[in-house]
Order: sequence, then structure tokens, then C-alpha cells
Amino acid sequence: EKNGYDHFMLKEIYEQPDAITDTYRGRMLVDQGIVRMAGVDDNISKFLNARRILIVACGTSWHAGLVAEYIFEDFARIPVEVEYASEFRYRNPVIYRDDVVIAISQSGETADTMAAIKLAKEKGAFVFGVCNVVGSSISRETHAGAYTHAGPEIGVASTKAFTTQITVLSLIALKLAKEKGTISNSDFHLYLRELELIPNKIKEALQSNEHITDVARKYKDASNFLYLGRGFNFPVALEGALKLKEISYIHAEGYPAAEMKHGPIALIDEMMPVVVIATRKGHYEKVISNIQEIKSRKGKIIGIVTKGDKEVRELADYVIEVPETVEAFTPLLTTIPLQLLSYHIALMLDKNVDQPRNLAKSVTVE
Ligand code: M6R
Repeated sequence: EKNGYDHFMLKEIYEQPDAITDTYRGRMLVDQGIVRMAGVDDNISKFLNARRILIVACGTSWHAGLVAEYIFEDFARIPVEVEYASEFRYRNPVIYRDDVVIAISQSGETADTMAAIKLAKEKGAFVFGVCNVVGSSISRETHAGAYTHAGPEIGVASTKAFTTQITVLSLIALKLAKEKGTISNSDFHLYLRELELIPNKIKEALQSNEHITDVARKYKDASNFLYLGRGFNFPVALEGALKLKEISYIHAEGYPAAEMKHGPIALIDEMMPVVVIATRKGHYEKVISNIQEIKSRKGKIIGIVTKGDKEVRELADYVIEVPETVEAFTPLLTTIPLQLLSYHIALMLDKNVDQPRNLAKSVTVE
């Protein structure tokens, strides 16, 4: 059932090219320039007239929601707020009847997300689900939805669910952007073509696995890690840190790179590995100056960079390359080495990768 892999997590990391292909199959017709998704098409006026999009989710699904915030706002110019379901449900939130609420949940059984959905429905909002498990409670409770079609995810640490959630949300954002005319026709086509190339680019990113094993060996005994990213890759920094915490029990924090100087920089010394997402598109020069700040305080730098990068390589202790793509889709690639890094560190520390202590695959209690 693990298909020759030692762990479900590793299997699921390697399944991402196929999972993403399954996510967009039949929905994205690249040559015709069409995105079709029944759950969106049937409710298109609700999406097009949305005052805001509110995204509710927990954990990794919340991180996918944060990536989606950047994508929706950039492509479709719809204001987005991303909420922890557990906070939203108890905050007496402002919800308008013309808000579209998107609930993201791999399992479709998360109690807090379910409660947030019920609250949004009571207030008259339209609630759309992005779930992986077909027929799950959340998929039934929402007015409409789109499945990720990632196949079963068994490892407690979410991997392919995250990248397929981002894929579904990107498709929705592209569809709305086209309908609203907020992106040009040529950009629309460019994005479709780029999304179609992502599975192969993930395959290429997976080829760094051996090299990532070396990085893991070098830093596995650190007691803290910092993860930094900006823009579309800020949520990826959060996700990388969560992966490491969950399965290796090493304390890790994710930050927007520019926030470092407002506090976390005080933590940096020669014992602190800092994983910096520094792809060429998206605040590249600014991230380089963040890297210089880390280096001058003797922090260890692991750069996640675009293939062929030279500048970061000169400064960093290690670099891990990912192929080039449009900025909005870089999270689908930069996430891959972070998943592998946490996997190898946990394995070297002899932790139970698929079933970390204190955690369950779906959190059905609040
Ligand atoms: O099934 P869900 O997507 O609703 O689950 C949400 C979180 O419990 C989940 O993403 C959790 O954070 C994962 N263990 C992260 O790897």
C-alpha cells in the first residue's frame, strides 16, 4: 500500500505531480482557454458579485488559504480575508450575505472548520468547500464545492493536499479573473500553460532529494529553525515550519522575511539554521538583503532558489534549486524541498513520520 516507499508521507510527496494533474484534469482546457468547474459555474454570479471572499480553515489548509489570498487578490481583484476557523467561529465575525466563504479541508471532518461553515450559513453567506475526501461532512454541509482529487492522504503531515488545494484555488481565481476581465487574455493563457507545466517541474524539484538528505544531516540536531519567505511564499515559510515541528519536534517558526528585523533577528546566531525562500521572481533583491543580515549575524542559510541562481549561492551555506515558473505558482514548487527536508530530518531523528505524537489525521474535536 506504500507502493515501495518507506512511509506514506514520502509516497504522498512523490505523488504530487500526478495528484495535481488529477486536480486540473477536465477542468482546465489549455488549448481552448477554458476553466470549467461545475461548483463554480453553477454559482458564477455569487462569485462575480462577491463583496469579499472569506477563507476559513485550519493548519496546512489555512496556509493554502493564505496562498490563495495572494492569488485571488492579484488575479481577480476580490478582497480576501483568511481566518483560522477556530477564531472565526467564536469572534462574532462580520459576515455579509454577499460574502463568499470558502472552507478548505483535506479530511472534510475538521470540527472548527465545520462550525465556521455553519455560522456563515446562518448569516446567509454562500459557502463553498474545497475538500479532498469525497462525501465528507464538510463537502455535504457546504452549498457547493470542488474536490481536490488528490487521492487518499494517510500521513498525518499534509503534503499533496496542500499543493492540490492551491491548484483548485488557482483555477477558481483564474476563472473569475477571466470573467471579470481583471487579467489580460494573454496572461490568462500564459497562466494556464504554466499550471499545466507544474507537475513536470515538481518532478524536477524532487530530483534534489539526495542533496536535501545532506542538508538534513547537517542541521538535524538544531533545536530551532527559522523559515522566511515573502509575498506568495510567505505562507510557504509557515508551512515549512509547521512540517518540521509536526514530525521532527524541532521548534520552528515561519515569518515574512521583512518582519525578521522586528524581533526574530534577535534569535539569530551560529546555531540557527534559516531556510530562506529566495526565488528569482518576487522581491528577490530584498530577500537577498535579508540573507545578508542573517549572514552578518552568523546564521546558517539554506536558500530555496530558482534553478541557475548565483547570487544566493554565494551567500548561503546550502542552496536547493527549483525550476522557474510565474511568481504566483512558485509556492507549488518551493514547498517540495521543505516537505522533503522535514521528512529526512524526522527520519534521521528516528521519529514516527507518518504518525507523530499527539496528532491525529483529522481533528474532529475542538
Ligand atoms: O483535514 P483538514 O485539512 O481540515 O485538516 C486541517 C489541519 O488539521 C491539518 O492541515 C494539520 O495541520 C496537518 N497535520 C498539517 O500537516
